[in-house]
Amino acid sequence: MAHAHQHQHQHQHGAPSAHAHSHPHAHSHDSDATPNGLPEILDLDAALFAPHLTALTGRIACLAGDDVRHIVDLGSGTGTGTFALLEQFPTARVTAVDSSPAMLELLVSAARERGLGDRVRTLEADAGAGLPGVVDADLVWASASLHHLDDPATGLAGIRAALRPGGLLAVAEVDGMPSFLPAGSGPGELEARCRAALDGLHAERMPHRGADWGSLLTAAGFSVEQERAEPWELRAPLPEGAGRYAFLVIERIRGSLDGRVDADDLAALDRLIDGGPEDVRHRDDLVVRSTRRTWMARPAQETLPSRS
Ligand SMILES: C[S@@+](CC[C@H](N)C(=O)[O-])C[C@H]1O[C@@H](n2cnc3c(N)ncnc32)[C@H](O)[C@@H]1O
Repeated sequence: MAHAHQHQHQHQHGAPSAHAHSHPHAHSHDSDATPNGLPEILDLDAALFAPHLTALTGRIACLAGDDVRHIVDLGSGTGTGTFALLEQFPTARVTAVDSSPAMLELLVSAARERGLGDRVRTLEADAGAGLPGVVDADLVWASASLHHLDDPATGLAGIRAALRPGGLLAVAEVDGMPSFLPAGSGPGELEARCRAALDGLHAERMPHRGADWGSLLTAAGFSVEQERAEPWELRAPLPEGAGRYAFLVIERIRGSLDGRVDADDLAALDRLIDGGPEDVRHRDDLVVRSTRRTWMARPAQETLPSRS
């Protein structure tokens, strides 16, 4: 198998499709030039929730078996899934697919730093239009990426075509923006109001965020074997980087909320990132919470006519 980097330039420049868990104004193409703080958020997410991710890849291994040689990381970002899965499956190699060349560059240099360069190749492509040249994958991992696709049905058909018969698709999606404030801190339900405002915005611009992937998978010819919602939570003593993660996420969503929550809430949000006493970067009372939903599915077996 060749490990050369393969590039398919298939960006879509038209329909808006937001990028982060949170930034509703970015188009697919925006991230190519400036991933805009997202890489650091993704890397912190990977570091902070590493034990949760290890448990998840362990669950994948139980379903996929040990003999996983070729993995596709769809919408790979900086490589959170790529590196977790390379560790879980020590003889596997990964094709990391992303529409953002900037993300893929970061992933490649991280792979080299970890001495994993020869187990990773990249494919720059719009995963919503299929996965050209990718066949016989044992496992496709799509984390926080499927909701970006303009047409999930076409994207899922491409995944199905890339998987070998009996191969496994693991989908993970984050259930809205994470929350950080302990109960009773700040104006009551501030984060709930921000979250609702962002959900409204995403519903306008990114209609597949929060989609019922179980139904979409079934409609696309997959048989869903597991579906779970798991709360991922960090409490004191917080790991290093938790405050920075909170800061970056809040900073990233802040600009989208002008005019969508009232002035008092905006001021309260600003106090969380202004360097003052309420700033999330130097608090030890944060509780970082997000819900991760996962679906494990395989291409449904064609029913063969029985022989008489
Ligand atoms: C929220 S990030 C998730 C990254 C990574 N999977 C993780 O869990 O950390 C979404 C990623 O999907 C990529 N992406 C968005 N639209 C895409 C598309 N149509 N085709 C391929 N990748 C896409 C983005 O560039 C970004 O790297």
